[in-house]
Amino acid sequence: MKGIILAGGKGTRLYPNTITVSKQLLPIYDKPLIYYPLSVLLLAGIRDILIISTPEDTSNYKRLLDDGSKLGIHIEYKIQDKPRGLADAFILGADFIGSDSVCLVLGDNVFYGQFFSKILSDAQEQIKRGGAAIFGYPVSNPKEFGVVEFDEKYKVISIEEKPRNPKSNYAVPGLYFYDNDVVKIAENVQPSARGEIEITSINNDYLSRGKLSVTLMGRGMAWLDTGSPRGMLKAAEFVRTVQDMQGFYISCPEEIAWRRGFITSDQLLALGEELKMTEYGQYLISLAEGTK
Ligand code: DAU
Repeated sequence: MKGIILAGGKGTRLYPNTITVSKQLLPIYDKPLIYYPLSVLLLAGIRDILIISTPEDTSNYKRLLDDGSKLGIHIEYKIQDKPRGLADAFILGADFIGSDSVCLVLGDNVFYGQFFSKILSDAQEQIKRGGAAIFGYPVSNPKEFGVVEFDEKYKVISIEEKPRNPKSNYAVPGLYFYDNDVVKIAENVQPSARGEIEITSINNDYLSRGKLSVTLMGRGMAWLDTGSPRGMLKAAEFVRTVQDMQGFYISCPEEIAWRRGFITSDQLLALGEELKMTEYGQYLISLAEGTK
């Protein structure tokens, strides 16, 4: 399975912070926002990754993550010249995806929870049989998201993008698993009223063919909002609180790459040494030396 991180867009809701810096490079506490979705892909065991961003920002992602070899993975880059919509990920990523299945994670989505690895591996198993797997997460402000509509037996009837009158409070988070059909489906998506080619249109296509699975994430999962300065601060506070309490880091790609066996303890140690002036670097060193 291939992985795509969509890290473009204008970030206007965070202006003036994002006039000169890509939103997904802003910090959530001690690491850039993109480390969080990158960690999701690594946790899923996905090692072939495409990062899509703007003409201005792509070089900065390359500076940060290069070709991924330090993490034992392979990263490619693709420029999106205009934010045409999330479905564009599969048009721009068609060659990269080839004949494979794909996981798309939005560059500004932060997930954290105990059974998250299992959720990810279940979705991947599901996709091996074909179709699409997405999630539902209870929110208090469903109007701002894609929203799942259920019948009385919790069977999914539709997905609506930013509905005026949401039919449930289950939002669809920015994490999507698709079989290879997604490439063809994305090519045929028509722009919505707001002029974007919507991921929701792709999901409804799978739904209409009986090939969409929607798994509800429970209270044990955190899906953190980074759509506003307040949301970013709250997410940072969450990360700091959990890390301080447990001593384990949230979404540290180097740690996940090491635990998944993509890099050795020596390689992890070298990554820690590069950052040894920070707590982050010291954390990597302590993992590599087995003192953690
Ligand atoms: O976060 C989950 C939500 O993401 C879903 O519930 C919605 O169904 C989905 O449409 C999307 O809604 P947003 O309003 O949050 O999408 P936004 O336009 O903010 O884009 C999400 C991220 O993708 C953001 O970091 C910018 C990036 N992006 C967006 C577009 C439209 C791109 O890189 N390229 C694009 O063309």
